[in-house]
Amino acid sequence: MSTATAAPAATGVPRQQKAFKTQDKPDEVRRSNMNAAKAVSDAVRTSLGPKGMDKMIQTANGEVVITNDGATILKHMAVMHPAARMLVELSQAQDIEAGDGTTSVVVIAGSLLGAAEKMLNKGIHPTIIAESFQKAAAKAVEYLTEISTPVDLRDKESLLRAANTSLNSKIVSQYSSVLAPIAVNAVTRLLHASKPKNAATTASPRSPATSNPTSPALNATRPSSSSSGAPGASVTVPEGSSDTPASDVEPISIDLRDIRLVKKVGGTIDDTELVEGLVLEQNVITSSGGPSRMEKAKIAVCQFQLSSPKPDMDNQIVVNDYRQMDKILKEERQYLLNMCKKIKKSGCNVLLIQKSILRDAVNELALHFLAKLKILVVKDVEREEIEFVCRTLNAKPIADIEAFTEDKLAYADLVDEVQQSGAKVVKITGIKDMGQTVSVLCTGANSLVLEESERSLHDALCVVRCLVKRRALIAGGGAPEVHVSRLLAQHAQSLKGTQAYCFSAFAEALEIIPTTLAENAGLNPIAIVTELRNRHALGERTAGINVRKGQITNILEENVLQPLLVNTSAIELATETVALLLKVDDFQLSR
Ligand SMILES: Nc1ncnc2c1ncn2[C@@H]1O[C@H](COP(=O)(O)OP(=O)(O)OP(=O)(O)O)[C@@H](O)[C@H]1O
Ligand SMILES: [Mg+2]
Repeated sequence: MSTATAAPAATGVPRQQKAFKTQDKPDEVRRSNMNAAKAVSDAVRTSLGPKGMDKMIQTANGEVVITNDGATILKHMAVMHPAARMLVELSQAQDIEAGDGTTSVVVIAGSLLGAAEKMLNKGIHPTIIAESFQKAAAKAVEYLTEISTPVDLRDKESLLRAANTSLNSKIVSQYSSVLAPIAVNAVTRLLHASKPKNAATTASPRSPATSNPTSPALNATRPSSSSSGAPGASVTVPEGSSDTPASDVEPISIDLRDIRLVKKVGGTIDDTELVEGLVLEQNVITSSGGPSRMEKAKIAVCQFQLSSPKPDMDNQIVVNDYRQMDKILKEERQYLLNMCKKIKKSGCNVLLIQKSILRDAVNELALHFLAKLKILVVKDVEREEIEFVCRTLNAKPIADIEAFTEDKLAYADLVDEVQQSGAKVVKITGIKDMGQTVSVLCTGANSLVLEESERSLHDALCVVRCLVKRRALIAGGGAPEVHVSRLLAQHAQSLKGTQAYCFSAFAEALEIIPTTLAENAGLNPIAIVTELRNRHALGERTAGINVRKGQITNILEENVLQPLLVNTSAIELATETVALLLKVDDFQLSR
């Protein structure tokens, strides 16, 4: 000490070394990071739960988004601080892993950061805090698994309840009776469709797509854990349903990209429906008098253009003879007519044409010929849609007119353009050998509602998918958090030294969820959480906050159930981020 203070002037010890000895910088960096991250967490806190508030976000290009979804709020927030960005990414990670609980995960992380700060103030080393928190998180997951109830995928009631719970906290909650069954039916249909085949064969055709960076988690399969039965919860598992049995042993992967949500402004959310077949948001082209309805359709998915070819380079041809001009026009006419005739010859009567950026996908003249040949035309099918469309229709995309043969066509009973409450869509039904996909037509009065409805439906789909990944449910409404918090606090008493402190702090931090649920519902958080704690201490494991009645009740009677995976992954991911933030002690800019 004496040398450190006395020496610098005399011996010229570098300033950096001196700064390091004071240990101020690591602490400052850590605290600044924590404050930034906590600010993000505070921003979404009010959105938690069924009585949570919604956010109105204006994007850089002037669009307005109204949402309650944590991941969406954070994605749109212009967060600059690198530590705060970690919370944004945390929410995205939860979105990929579980799909729901994206607000909870950030709120938990914020609360854990507060707890860590208290521990730092006590003089506990960050590494010890980080390690203890991770151990506590592992214990918390254990406790959660203990109180979970195994669920059978045949038990649609339970799946519905879980989907309903996730929709309850959304803006579109009054439509949960419409959206929840759609979510359950969509996922279970994929499940049953993939059943007869071997798991390996169903996965193989899509293998190239799994190289997508976001996809591994979406595709992730996990052998179902048959968690121990919980005495507290009471999910009924009826025996022997008429559907194909879904065995609990075999891992099944549900890829949400197999479920297509087609959005159309018009009508209300009530009109949202699951379509047996394929829905295209593009309209049929009738300007040239072609048909808009086709029975016994033979459908081709066409990737080439039905318009006159263009040279690679921009060049000008000056024609000063009208006979030459005539010849050029005739040539073009002949070229297109030949193409259309070839199409007709293959037996095709419905043409889906991919959007083209080079030239017109189909020009007026070609449309005229196609109309004469009684071929229904839908153009501007997006490049990204082609794979889904082909898989659903069981068709092969055709990239060249020379390859236009009958074996590449798909067969459907009906292709029809329908108008539903102002929304015009093309529906293809009665598809022969239909692929394992599901189409959902989402409708809404305006684009703000429609987009939120789609996001909410996505959350509900994720919840059902979570149950496929990990077949267990737990009660919601703050019950699991209080249960874990109580057990962790008990466990902390058996520990020694700083770890005991950290475990208690972690336990206390988890109470942020019931506290926030109560706060957002306009209840007294201290009174509610105290009562909740008492009820749990008396052995009521499923006592939760009934936000509707404003009191503590058995939350299972309210049908508030959520997948175990949502809660466990929220705790794990939040702890991981906090540990990471705690271990950062310096901040450098790179050139
Ligand atoms: N009817 C209800 N009564 C009490 N609590 C409920 C009810 N419905 C949901 N909850 C609780 O609300 C919380 C979920 O809130 P919310 O859906 O707003 O956030 P999230 O799922 O974390 O994030 P997001 O849905 O935005 O991805 C869970 O803790 C759940 O148990
Ligand atoms: Mg939710």
